[in-house]
Amino acid sequence: MSTLTDTRSRPLRDLRISLTDRCNFRCTYCMPRELFGAEHLFLPRRELLDFDEIERIARIAAGLGVTKLRLTGGEPLLRRDIDVLIRRLAAIDGIDDICLTTNGSLLTERRARELKAAGVNRVTLSLDAIDDERFMAINDVGFPAAKVLEAVDHAVAAGLTPVKVNCVIQRGVNDDQILPMAEAFRHTGVVLRFIEYMDVGTSNGWRLDDVVPAREILDTLRSRYGLTRQPAGQPGETANRWHYDDGAGEIGVIASVSMPFCGGCTRARLSAIGELYTCLFGVHGHDLRTPLRSGASDADIAAQLAGIWHARDDRYSEQRGEETAQRSPSGDADGRVEMSYIGG
Ligand code: GTP
Ligand code: 5AD
Ligand code: SF4
Ligand code: SF4
Repeated sequence: MSTLTDTRSRPLRDLRISLTDRCNFRCTYCMPRELFGAEHLFLPRRELLDFDEIERIARIAAGLGVTKLRLTGGEPLLRRDIDVLIRRLAAIDGIDDICLTTNGSLLTERRARELKAAGVNRVTLSLDAIDDERFMAINDVGFPAAKVLEAVDHAVAAGLTPVKVNCVIQRGVNDDQILPMAEAFRHTGVVLRFIEYMDVGTSNGWRLDDVVPAREILDTLRSRYGLTRQPAGQPGETANRWHYDDGAGEIGVIASVSMPFCGGCTRARLSAIGELYTCLFGVHGHDLRTPLRSGASDADIAAQLAGIWHARDDRYSEQRGEETAQRSPSGDADGRVEMSYIGG
C-alpha cells in the first residue's frame, strides 16, 4: 500500500475522535458560561455518530494509515457505554495506540480499570492549577484540583501510562502556577505538559498578550530546576520534551503559538456528528455522516477520506506566526470551530 500523503507530504497517522460536544466543566477559556449556559443548544443524541459509524470510520482510516486514535470531547467520559466502543476500536487491525483526553472528574478507580481492560493504553488529564481555589475559578463549576489529582492516581494505578497532565497557561490567570504544578508532578512518573494558550474557536476572546510563550515558561522552570532537552520522539510531536537533571522525570511544553509544529502534523479530527476536520483551526469540516447514512460502501468512504487528505494544505499555526510577526491581531472572529466541539 502506498502511503497517503497531503500536499505537504504529511501522512495521515492520528485520528482524534470527539465523542460529545458536552462537558461538565465551564472552563473560562473554553466554554465560558455566558456562551455555554442553560440556553446553549448541544447536539441532540440522534445527530451523534453511533458506535457502528465511529468504528467504521476508524477502520477505514486505519486502512489509510492511521495507527493512533485519541478519544476526546467535550468530556468523552460523558458518553454512555464508552467501554463498548473502545473494545471495538481496539480490535481494528493497524490501531496500536488508543488514548483518551479527559478532565478527570468522572475517572474513578473503577472507571480507570474498565478503560484499561477495554483497550485504552493511556490517558491525558487536564489540570490548569494546583491550587484548589484557582482551579475552581478556572473550571467555573467548583471542581477542586485535589479531585483531579485523585483521578491521576487512579489512572496510574490502572496502568494507563504514561499518564500525562495538560496545563494551559494564561498570562495573569495561572502563570504563577507553573512552579507549583511542576513541583506537584516531579518524581511521580506523570508527564506534565504546559500548553501555550491558543486562539482556538472564537468564544474565548483570545489575545496574543494572554499567551505565555514557551521560552518564558522554560525560563521560569529553569529558575528552579536544571533541565535537559530530549530529542523529539515522533515526527510531528506536539510537545518539546525536557528531563529534570536531578532525575525527577520528564516535563514538556506545547508551543503551538510560538513554535508551531504544522510541518509534521499527521492529525485529523472527527467531530461527534461525523465531520472530518484536517486542522484544529478549521472553519468547516467535511461531512462523512451523510455518505455513512446513505448507503456508501467502505471503498466509497475510503476514497472520499483519501481525497480530503490528499488535498490538505493546512498549516494554520505557522500562518498565524507569519502574520503576527508583522502585526498583532486580537481574536478575529471568523467562525473557527470551538475547542469543546472538536476536542483539542
Ligand atoms: P501525545 O500522543 O501524548 O503526545 O498527545 P498529543 O499531545 O498529541 O495530544 P493531546 O490531546 O494531549 O494534545 C495536547 C494539546 O496540544 C492539545 O490540547 C492542543 O492544545 C495541542 N495540540 C494537539 N494537537 C494539536 C495540533 O494538531 N495543532 C495544534 N495547534 N495544537 C495541537
Ligand atoms: N489553548 C490551548 N489549549 C486548550 N485547551 C482547551 N482550549 C485551549 C486553548 N484555547 C486544552 C484543554 C485540554 C485540551 C483538550 O485542550 O485544557 O487540556
Ligand atoms: Fe474545560 Fe476541557 Fe471541558 Fe473545555 S472540554 S470546558 S477545557 S474540561
Ligand atoms: Fe496541524 Fe492545524 Fe495544528 Fe498546524 S494548526 S499542527 S496543521 S492541526
